[in-house]
Amino acid sequence: MPYRDMRDYLATLEQHDLLKRVTQEVDRGWEIACLAKWMYQALPVDRRFGLLFQNVRGFDIPVVTGALGACPQSVALALQCEIDELNARVVAALRAPLKPTTVGSGPCQENVLLGERASLAKLPVVTWTPGKDKAPYITTIVITVHRDTGVQNMGVYRTMLRDEHSVVINLGPGRQGTRNVKTWTDSGKAAPIAWVIATEPAVHLATVANLPYGRDEMDFAGGLKGEPIDLVRTKTIDLLAPANSEIVIEGEVRPGELEDEGPFGEFAGVMGAVEKRPVAHITAITHRSQPLFYGYTSQMPPSESTTIQSLMNAGVILQMMHDHIGDDAVKDVYIDQTFGGILAHAIVAMTPSGPGHGKRVGRTIADISPLKRVTVVDADVDIRDPSHVDWALNSRFNPQRDTVIIDDVNVPLQIDPSVRDARGNVTQGSKIVIDATQKFDPGPFSLPPRDLMLKALGVWNACGLPQFEIPKRAKLRIDKS
Ligand SMILES: Cc1cc2nc3c(=O)[nH]c(=O)nc-3n(C[C@H](O)[C@H](O)[C@H](O)COP(=O)(O)O)c2cc1C
Repeated sequence: MPYRDMRDYLATLEQHDLLKRVTQEVDRGWEIACLAKWMYQALPVDRRFGLLFQNVRGFDIPVVTGALGACPQSVALALQCEIDELNARVVAALRAPLKPTTVGSGPCQENVLLGERASLAKLPVVTWTPGKDKAPYITTIVITVHRDTGVQNMGVYRTMLRDEHSVVINLGPGRQGTRNVKTWTDSGKAAPIAWVIATEPAVHLATVANLPYGRDEMDFAGGLKGEPIDLVRTKTIDLLAPANSEIVIEGEVRPGELEDEGPFGEFAGVMGAVEKRPVAHITAITHRSQPLFYGYTSQMPPSESTTIQSLMNAGVILQMMHDHIGDDAVKDVYIDQTFGGILAHAIVAMTPSGPGHGKRVGRTIADISPLKRVTVVDADVDIRDPSHVDWALNSRFNPQRDTVIIDDVNVPLQIDPSVRDARGNVTQGSKIVIDATQKFDPGPFSLPPRDLMLKALGVWNACGLPQFEIPKRAKLRIDKS
């Protein structure tokens, strides 16, 4: 059964020991962020967990963070599959999206706060880089709509508290949310905008997929869930929001109102610049009774933000290569989890049809994605195993022959700390493609034949040596021995 809502998912996470409750009182101004930072900075990926802060000083609303993106296992649980099935789930959902259903009412509107009562001061909005951030900010799903087509878009855009009734949104140039807002403000109209806090896991994960403009991530979310997402019409603006959300904040961006946003801790691991960004005015807050508040942990990677974005966008690239570029030789894609899909490193497994094919695939992926490095290996390499990938690089990659540098790449976000000159001015970025596929047959592997290796497993056990699970790397090698 798909999860009904965030509560349903959190219960499952807890059963798998992937959610820890903190009952001690915590301050949302520093303790929540610092504890979440320790979780990501100190624990190896297979020991990470989501955090549920039950007792937040001054608020009767618990705060959740890291629940979706503690580790690949939590993302797999959110999509009800195994870790190595994640790409297949994303590809299937992109191929078979499900349009949402509009329903008359939903839990997210059990309580409706309008006018003065719609105060952001009621919400335990977290300060994420205490001691350095300008203000607390909301980090959740943001819905906008194109004025003419009526097609909605979802993205996560950091939203800084300005006062009790207004915010400044990090809607940078080029973002799809920015484009939607401009369809209203360029003709002098206020743009509707909504923040969705803690809803069905499929909606959260679909939101961070980089889909082409004009594709509503809500349809993709339905495909991921296996059922259409129920939506309700928001109370004060003309938008549709997931009915089973904990909290929905409604607002509008008025034309021409920009203000300084930042500085804030950025996903790349440094403090970001102050930029002029749109202001929004809050028109309503609706919520379930006894709601939960959710804020993604981002800032210094690895983080929840990098984990969910890397895992969701690998499948998006795989589907693009198969369905739009028409190259079935690409078998799998992995994106490192330290940068979140943008400006990151992808490792691609493929079966090249001949020399040059690996480079072509690498160049294509570098061009169609916001990735900075693309390494292409043969399908006999476990792309999730760094030691296997390093072996492929050492044994199959000749740097002079197999490297492509793509220069003058326009970095849309202007937040890659590496693309600055000595004076700190933003310059053009570049990308690198590494073709580590085998260009000729170097002969058999230096391992005993498969049948002997399998026979030796019996001897291993008879000797009373410690048990092990055969790693994928070893399986792939032995199968070819
Ligand atoms: C926790 C988190 C915070 C994010 N903050 C921002 C942000 O402030 N501004 C931004 O442009 N993208 C941000 N992103 C990335 C976008 O949400 C993501 O790339 C999304 O797919 C963009 O949607 P769009 O292409 O429809 O605009 C964030 C992602 C996460 C997970």
